[in-house]
Amino acid sequence: MRPRLRARVAGVGGHLPARVLTNAELPAHLDTSDAWIVERTGIRQRHLAAEGELTSDLAVAAARRALEMADARPEDVGLVLLATSTPDNTFPATATRVRERLGIPPGPAFDLQAVCAGFVYALSVADSLLRTGTAKSALVIGAETFSRILDWNDRSTCVLFGDGAGALYLVAEEQTGTVLDRGVLATHLSADGRHYHQLYVDGGPSSTGTVGHLRMNGREVFRHAVAAMSASAEEVCRRVGIPPSEVDWFVPHQANLRIIDALARRLGIPDERVARTVDRHANTSAASIPLALDVLVHEDRLRPGHLVLLSGIGGGFAWGSVLLRW
Ligand code: ACO
Repeated sequence: MRPRLRARVAGVGGHLPARVLTNAELPAHLDTSDAWIVERTGIRQRHLAAEGELTSDLAVAAARRALEMADARPEDVGLVLLATSTPDNTFPATATRVRERLGIPPGPAFDLQAVCAGFVYALSVADSLLRTGTAKSALVIGAETFSRILDWNDRSTCVLFGDGAGALYLVAEEQTGTVLDRGVLATHLSADGRHYHQLYVDGGPSSTGTVGHLRMNGREVFRHAVAAMSASAEEVCRRVGIPPSEVDWFVPHQANLRIIDALARRLGIPDERVARTVDRHANTSAASIPLALDVLVHEDRLRPGHLVLLSGIGGGFAWGSVLLRW
């Protein structure tokens, strides 16, 4: 094996807004119940951004923790990549504001939009830029304020989502070129726009000139989520020659406990190696995977050397997976 550059995770951070909205509080405004939500989704509560608390505020807090864990200074950071579907403004990229607020000197910063698959897309792009030497390090952040695009009168969608942010700090490092290397080992991305209207927002700058609200055909999303994520997870594992059943951690996008359980069963991954944070965070879209990683690290369950499989799917549909060694 020839030595090669790998994008290794040096730090992780998460941030959730202070306000917690439990299922029990919802029936006051909505024809729903804690029992229905828990049974169909596994969600028990979600965090909501306060008035004036923006996606950039959540992103900055999560990124700061990732840099602290890595013992990195702002001037060490090369690329800033923010996965979000709920930017502060239509433009400029929220990543530029995050970069400035963290005191990182001028350099590349951009937003990436692949909805709930945003984090695996962003991680895959950052991996490419690090492995080609375009950047020496990268902050990859998933941050969302989905509460702002929910129709709070639509019980079939508003109970499912929450706000939050998670971040990884990655550094380019020369390693041996084997599957024992630490860092990203393989990535897989895909999208199929024939499903555009199964999960979308009914507004936008070039269509309605409004922000719009999230709309979803839940059953179709469910069906495709399990099929697409399991195929993608199998594909990244195949590229490295390790079966999914042998990973130390499976960290799928946290949308629904039933989707997560069905995926784990299909992939043959035992329960104790599957991340489940949807009960406390709900679906935080691009933030869900890095938030789950942050929880696992802080509970001292995810450790250096562990093999980690990430998988996400979102509107589009867009989906993908990343296999990495922590
Ligand atoms: N409370 C009470 N009843 C509800 C609620 C609610 N919050 N929401 C819907 N219902 C009712 C419906 O109106 C319907 O009533 P009806 O039979 O009188 O018409 C009944 O419950 C069943 O509705 P379904 O939509 O068929 O329920 P289903 O079992 O499919 O569960 C759910 C809905 C939870 C959305 C499910 O389809 C699902 O999880 N889909 C995946 C979607 C998802 O996770 N999306 C997240 C975004 S995409 C992503 O991140 C991958």
